[in-house]
This record gives sequence, structure tokens and C-alpha cells, in this order.
Amino acid sequence: MSYAANPKRYDTMQYRRSGKSGLKLPAVSLGLWHNFGAMDDYEKCRTIIHSAFDNGITHFDLANNYGPPPGGAEETFGKIFKQDLKPYRDEIIVSSKAGYDMWPGPYGDWGSKKYLVASLDQSLKRMGLEYVDIFYHHRPDPETPLEETMAALDLIVRQGKALYVGISNYSAAEAQKAIEVLNSLGTPLLIHQAKYSMLVRWVEDGLLDVLDKNGVGCIAFSSLAQGILTNKYLNGIPADSRAASERGNGALERNALTQQILSKVYQLNKIAEGRGQSLAQMALGWILKDQRMTSLIIGASKPEQVIDSIHCLKNYNFTTDELKAIEEILSQPIEP
Ligand SMILES: NC(=O)c1ccc[n+]([C@@H]2O[C@H](COP(=O)([O-])OP(=O)(O)OC[C@H]3O[C@@H](n4cnc5c(N)ncnc54)[C@H](OP(=O)(O)O)[C@@H]3O)[C@@H](O)[C@H]2O)c1
Repeated sequence: MSYAANPKRYDTMQYRRSGKSGLKLPAVSLGLWHNFGAMDDYEKCRTIIHSAFDNGITHFDLANNYGPPPGGAEETFGKIFKQDLKPYRDEIIVSSKAGYDMWPGPYGDWGSKKYLVASLDQSLKRMGLEYVDIFYHHRPDPETPLEETMAALDLIVRQGKALYVGISNYSAAEAQKAIEVLNSLGTPLLIHQAKYSMLVRWVEDGLLDVLDKNGVGCIAFSSLAQGILTNKYLNGIPADSRAASERGNGALERNALTQQILSKVYQLNKIAEGRGQSLAQMALGWILKDQRMTSLIIGASKPEQVIDSIHCLKNYNFTTDELKAIEEILSQPIEP
């Protein structure tokens, strides 16, 4: 089956500028952390990517270690890119990252210049790309001087291997320092990628202010808490769900689905129903109500989930009463 992109793909997606940069990202982006490994069904991977691009998702988020095995998702994406997306390269934003354990020895992890430069070269080969649009340092390195890690990002841009740079999982104070170092090098920080959902809200305690003040974008990940913030676990654990998967890979574990969490999900689902939305749509809309959020990265195991999630854009406004009711549910104590 050959692929031709939907001519109406830009009709409904919304695009938000990343901080004060020139780059706009779709409010909903697609990540390939799960479901794009070597053992995943290739044709299914293709249909997920097609359903995203056909609906205006121009941004695909990867990392060196996504799989399994590590590198597997970049290889799958590279194959799909070659087969289907190559004619659309200039309409697509591809990101990758390095920062977690990737290969043995002292040069395959953390934040040295040696690791970042070598890792991006490997990522480009796996994806069959000449450059990525955004290259991230995936997590702060407590040992490598921040100046060296940021100099590596600057170098990569000057070499033409990435157009923009990002950081991920940096605290507010670490992000402020990274912004200052990158500014001094002349390669401003484009974006910070942070875990943010109704259940994980640390970015509200300073990070969003730091990014906003410095004109840097923010892109959320795991905004559905890996599927918890949907209605899928309200009647047990479906066999094809992430919680049922035995793959590890940092995936959602069954024991995260406690009665107390599920009780909150049940109550949130009632509010979503009252808004005429799925819970997934409400949980994503709740992130996008804050204009400081450039985008959020969804994961999907089926094309139907991409479509369902994109419809969060139909309503991400909340009444004061809805916000209050949501806060009350989220603040219900969770006993250890
Ligand atoms: N920078 C970092 O450190 C970091 C870390 C983690 C993730 N990320 C990025 O963020 C992306 C998304 O992370 P995530 O996969 O944890 O995101 P997520 O959106 O919280 O979870 C995705 C999972 O939720 C379920 N789902 C999605 N849409 C649904 C819908 N509409 N209805 C019902 N269920 C739905 C699916 O699970 P089932 O498999 O159960 O169907 C899907 O695989 C990753 O791919 C990656 O690009 C970055």
C-alpha cells in the first residue's frame, strides 16, 4: 500500500509557537517510546503514523533508547520515513534524545560531549535522516559540567545535525542555568520536555515560570499517565493494554492501578462525561488550557487512540466549577 498524505491535514490541528522561537509545534504531538519496537507489527506502526500526520500532527518524538531493543523505534521510524514520509520531510519535525544508558562503557550514558555527538550520529543513521529538528539532552547529568553538555548541543547545531536543542527532566534551577549557558553560546534553548499530567504536577512549582520568563517552550509527556487517565482501566485490565504488557521498558505496572487511583479516575470520568468528552480528551485538554504549554506528546497503541486524543482540541476550556471539582478529586489523599 502506498501512502499519500491527506490533503486536508492542516484543517483542524492547532499550532503553538515554542516560547519566543520561530518554530510552531502541533498542540498534540506523537511519541514513539512504546509500540514502535522491533517486535511490534510494522503495518500497525505505519497506520498510527499515518493517522497522526493525516490529522496535522507534524511532530514525532523519539530517543536513542526507545524500542525495545534500544534504537528499535528509530529504526521503525526510519523505515516508515523512507517508505511514506520522505516527500514530506520539510513538513515534519523529528526529535531525538540522548542521556540514558545506551551502550556499554563510559561513553554510552549521561551527558558528555563524546556520548551526545556519537549518539546523534547513530540516531541519524537509524532514521536515515540528515538532521533532526530538535535534539534533547534527555536527563541532567550530576557529574558532567553543564557547560560541556550545553557546548555539545551547541556544536551539534553548528554541525547542521540538529536545528534546535532541548532539555528534558531538568529541574527549574537546572533549566535556568542551562538557558543561561546556551544563551552565552548563541544557541538558545527551544524547549523543555517534562512529565506533566493531572497526577504529576511538579512543573507547576517553578519550572513553567522559568521557561515562560526566558521565552522557552514546554512540551508535556505522559499526560495520560500512560493510560491511567482514560476510561480503559475502570473495569479491569484489558489484555491489550500497557499495564498488561510484560515488556518492562519503564512501562506502567499493574500495581500503579490502586483502588484509590481508580476511584479518582472514576470521578474524573464523570466530569469528562458531563463535558461531552472522553476522559483522555479531558486530561489532555486540562494540560493545553495553559497557554505556556507549547504541545503535549501522546503515545498510542492504535490509530483510533490518536484520533480520540486529538479531539481534545475541541474543548480545552474549563469553567471555574469544573476546575474546582477536578482539584477536589485530585487532592483526595492517597494512603501509602
Ligand atoms: N523525555 C522523557 O523522559 C520521556 C519519558 C516518557 C515519555 N516521553 C515521550 O512522551 C511520549 C508519550 O508518553 P506515554 O506513552 O507515556 O504517553 P501517554 O499518552 O500518557 O500514554 C500513552 C498510552 O495511553 C493509552 N492511550 C493513549 N490514548 C488513548 C486514548 N485516547 N484512549 C485510551 N487509551 C489511550 C495507550 O495505552 P495502551 O497501550 O494501554 O493502549 C497509549 O500507549 C513518549 O512516546 C515519548 O515520546 C518522554
